[in-house]
Amino acid sequence: MDDSDEKSPWLTIDAKDYEAHMGHPSVGQLQALSGVLRAILERDRPSSLTVLGCATGNGFEHIDPSATTKVVGVDINPDYLTIANKRHEHLQGVVTWMLGDLGSVELPQRTFDHIHAGLIFEYVDASAILPKIATWLVRGGRFSVVLQHPSEKLGAVSTSPAAERLKVLGLILRHIAPSRFIQAAQASRLHWLNSERVELPDSKKLEVLEFVRKD
Ligand SMILES: C[S@@+](CC[C@H](N)C(=O)[O-])C[C@H]1O[C@@H](n2cnc3c(N)ncnc32)[C@H](O)[C@@H]1O
Repeated sequence: MDDSDEKSPWLTIDAKDYEAHMGHPSVGQLQALSGVLRAILERDRPSSLTVLGCATGNGFEHIDPSATTKVVGVDINPDYLTIANKRHEHLQGVVTWMLGDLGSVELPQRTFDHIHAGLIFEYVDASAILPKIATWLVRGGRFSVVLQHPSEKLGAVSTSPAAERLKVLGLILRHIAPSRFIQAAQASRLHWLNSERVELPDSKKLEVLEFVRKD
């Protein structure tokens, strides 16, 4: 979405419904996404980190402020950021919760060691945002992204008791194939490093991709 579009459906999704759905044992997406961020933080211990589409701060509990001293969490939903801020008091003075639409948000150039984006490129235009991500990274900085594979069995929004209240997202959710994403990222000078598949409890699959800015 950009500023000229009508309001994002994400602004209509209550945080409780969002988390009840994503964290439902049969869906398991919150748990899987938190695990992806934890593994990256433990391996790389980046000094500076940006999380695009950070929602209510899932995974931020793994940030060690003695290693990662500058964090930006960006999201379009102000209620999610308020919850994230309350939940992650240990990051006060370290994290900036930035309200904004990824279509128009600006961050300082050559600043971040790592940029992470979990299940957000299903809702935003990768080709518009990837070139900006490349400029926000320092040389050698890493970019990690989690994409969702379409499921033949399940719809765009998985099944859970709260799923009905998230159905509106199905109207804007667009899967992007990992191969197409890699092409778009490489066109933005983000060099592909590796991919890993994660299977969810309901048999949906996520793809974790990593890139580096070399120049
Ligand atoms: C599936 S959730 C992300 C999950 C989260 N990254 C995690 O790891 O648990 C998608 C998030 O992207 C945010 N979002 C959707 N469109 C956006 C946009 N155009 N700009 C900024 N944030 C957006 C939503 O508000 C939501 O919090």
